[in-house]
Amino acid sequence: MLIGYFRSCSVHEGQAAAQRRALAEAGCEQVVEERSVVEHGDEQPELRGLLARLQAGDVVVVPRLDSLGRSLPKVVLHVQSLTAAGIGLRSLAEALDTSPRSQPAAMIAVFGQHNSHGAGSRRRGAGGRPPRLSPAQQSDVVEKVLSGRHTASAMAKHYLVSPATISRLLAARLADAAAPAPSGPAEKDGVASDWIVGILPLSALDERLAIVGTSGSGKTYAAKGLIERVMASGGRVCVVDPLGVWWGLARGADGAAPPFPVAVFGGAHADVPLDPSMGTALGRLVGAQPMACVVDVSDFGSAAARRAFMTAFTEALYAANTEPLHLVLDEADLWAPQRTQPDGLELLSRVEEIVRRGRVRSFVPWLISQRPAVLHKDVLSQAGILVSMKLTSSQDRAAVGRWVEGQADRTEGRRILAALPQLRRGEGWVWAPGDRVLARVAFPRILTLDSSQTPRREARAGAVGLLATVDASALGRALAGVAAEGSEEPFHR
Ligand SMILES: Nc1ncnc2c1ncn2[C@@H]1O[C@H](COP(=O)(O)OP(=O)(O)OP(=O)(O)O)[C@@H](O)[C@H]1O
Ligand SMILES: [Mg+2]
Repeated sequence: MLIGYFRSCSVHEGQAAAQRRALAEAGCEQVVEERSVVEHGDEQPELRGLLARLQAGDVVVVPRLDSLGRSLPKVVLHVQSLTAAGIGLRSLAEALDTSPRSQPAAMIAVFGQHNSHGAGSRRRGAGGRPPRLSPAQQSDVVEKVLSGRHTASAMAKHYLVSPATISRLLAARLADAAAPAPSGPAEKDGVASDWIVGILPLSALDERLAIVGTSGSGKTYAAKGLIERVMASGGRVCVVDPLGVWWGLARGADGAAPPFPVAVFGGAHADVPLDPSMGTALGRLVGAQPMACVVDVSDFGSAAARRAFMTAFTEALYAANTEPLHLVLDEADLWAPQRTQPDGLELLSRVEEIVRRGRVRSFVPWLISQRPAVLHKDVLSQAGILVSMKLTSSQDRAAVGRWVEGQADRTEGRRILAALPQLRRGEGWVWAPGDRVLARVAFPRILTLDSSQTPRREARAGAVGLLATVDASALGRALAGVAAEGSEEPFHR
């Protein structure tokens, strides 16, 4: 279906009538008109509503590309989310007609020809603009890296600049996208108005959020992308990582320089090593410092040691924290399980306190879980936004269903629950009833190192190698040796 969209607020009535006519003549069955610049703090509320309604195969027709946003980063974000959702875009002024898989680069180049206020107009956040790339080159880098067609290091080589320059450019673009537009009051309650993954207002980043999905469905990756947005706008972040997969947040992707300063406590890539007795000290430190950090508890040995550390950590953090802090609990069901061990009761009540009453102490809790059915229901029910990646088990989908009953529309809920098993890696339904958003999105590529990558079988086979023959008695001896000495023998081919 062809759907027209234009901003009557930015043109005279005569021009608006001409644009309406041109869109109808282009075959649009519906024309959506943006009448006011700012409504409820949302810069383009009609466009946001339209994007949430569109389905794969639809085509959006605009009079010109800058109808989609007043700055290049915004247009880039919209083009990416349309492309990711399989939606086409046609611009009448630029005579562009793209299939969903066509080149956003062409659009951005055309946009740059007639719209100069997007790039280079504002400085904010991590590092400002790198001086050594022209605006056209910057646009090229941003488009190619964020669309996933080229790596950051390949673009650094192409333009003969350092990887750090590319990292700073990407971080600055994200910060720009998070910043209010140069003209017009686009702030609401001090929060810049923009979209996340093309559909959520930026203010949604300050909501309590839950991300659920099967193993490898892309939860941690999606959360990293959202946390990068929080860091790009200067937010404090603490990620509790029981699996040792978040350290990459402190590194740049593809060997590029780190786009954000992140401290890693504990784990195999620690800046500062941790042991299980340090919960109280670390809770006080994190509560008092303006920093982003990863608390990696993956090598604490036992589940009981991790719980004891977390009990002390959450207690001290709750007491010490007074400024806004995004607290990300990956594998949150470890800390707040529906069926709690006796030694986990205190921790459960601490996590509940942070999730239910933490707002007064400025916590923004984000919960990530493979198994929403085993995450404590009183904790999950507090999430204002639910992101569901692929979910197959009926119990887990039922848990999502219970959240929907408490928060959202049941009929829509049934439709979405049925569709959850078909989602691909990196895709999720984002449900934000408070923002009237329900949409399927593909989470974009992250800027930091992908440290939760699933090891590929062929890569491991190459590295380790299989036994050429199975020598049962040697294996038996090796096993007996391991049992007797309590140590592991290295593999022999
Ligand atoms: N949106 C995406 N774009 C590109 N790659 C992705 C995306 N989502 C996930 N991946 C790839 O899949 C890998 C696994 O994803 P991720 O670590 O997020 O899974 P998960 O849902 O957190 O799984 P688990 O429950 O086992 O922790 C990532 O490291 C990344 O390589
Ligand atoms: Mg994960």
